[in-house]
Amino acid sequence: MSAPHSITARACANIAFIKYWGNRPGDLNLPLNPSISMTLNSCVTTTTVEPIPAGPQEPQAVVGAQHAAPSRARTAQSAADDEVLIGGRVPGEKALARTVNFLDAMRRWAGNSQRLRVISENSFPTGCGIASSASGFAALAAAAAAALGKHPDAAELSRLARLGSGSAARSIMGGFVELLPGDTHQACHAVQLADENSWPELRDVVAILSSEEKTTSSADGHKLAATSELFEGRLRAIPARAQQVRDAIRRRDLSMLGSASEEDALSMHAVMMTSRPPLFYWTERTIRAINAVHALRRRGIEAFFTIDAGPNVHILCLDSGLDAVTSMVRDELAAEFIIAQPGPGIRVEGTR
Ligand code: PMV
Repeated sequence: MSAPHSITARACANIAFIKYWGNRPGDLNLPLNPSISMTLNSCVTTTTVEPIPAGPQEPQAVVGAQHAAPSRARTAQSAADDEVLIGGRVPGEKALARTVNFLDAMRRWAGNSQRLRVISENSFPTGCGIASSASGFAALAAAAAAALGKHPDAAELSRLARLGSGSAARSIMGGFVELLPGDTHQACHAVQLADENSWPELRDVVAILSSEEKTTSSADGHKLAATSELFEGRLRAIPARAQQVRDAIRRRDLSMLGSASEEDALSMHAVMMTSRPPLFYWTERTIRAINAVHALRRRGIEAFFTIDAGPNVHILCLDSGLDAVTSMVRDELAAEFIIAQPGPGIRVEGTR
């Protein structure tokens, strides 16, 4: 390929109103249900990818080998390896193996065996209830594709990002985004429902109730979904709820959006709690936050919760309700928070 150059991609995380939970068999992350999210402007992953020149060299950051067993990935230091730094550190074995596997998929797709150096930073703390895997794999897909000499369109980038993490497929587009539950790699990609300027008053206040790392990742959790007796019922209920969310986005109707989002989060967590083995992501503080959001609504403030695969609570409100929501989070929950609004899609810059 041409002279080594470095590509930087920026992707925002997203919060789903209709959650993706449960995959089709296989390792393509093909969801069983449609999911709909908002891209979050203030939660950004910035990832730089550059080709590692062939030939003997000092590795700058330790390193993952293609197809290496995780234990080898930590110690391998040959020029045939990728180099990965996330948040200034070499990731742990599992995260490193997942990143290298993803780069292998990108290389197969591009028909290019180039080793890559990856340096990635989040603008938000990891483990704070915002899926860094969504922004992380979206940014990595875009930067790696360009570093491998390819320029896919948004639908193709979304398919590629999905191979890293299902929710990452949605972070390619800005504003309000739906991931279609296609049953093939080709059919399963995200589409934009409305851009980030379509509803600028909408806010997501993320109450950080715990930043401990979760014991079961969502990647493992998806595999348990179908073991819940409630899963079939959830899948039957989603089409009507997803239509309510699409209509709410079109009409900019927070109470329509919020009521569907609360229902969907509770439905997903009910599936999690009744899986075998059960997955319980909530803590006492999660339940306190749910009650506090309901209390705000009784006071006439439009605020609604949604919760991902963790204990932290996202509170959807309008900018007019922001002071009431943030005061509640600070004073009643004694929690820190992040404020986000609809954000842009993927941005890519390159230097030669
Ligand atoms: O993309 P994953 O594998 O991290 O799964 C995302 C799961 C949820 O965040 C709980 C729901 C969603 O649609 O984002």
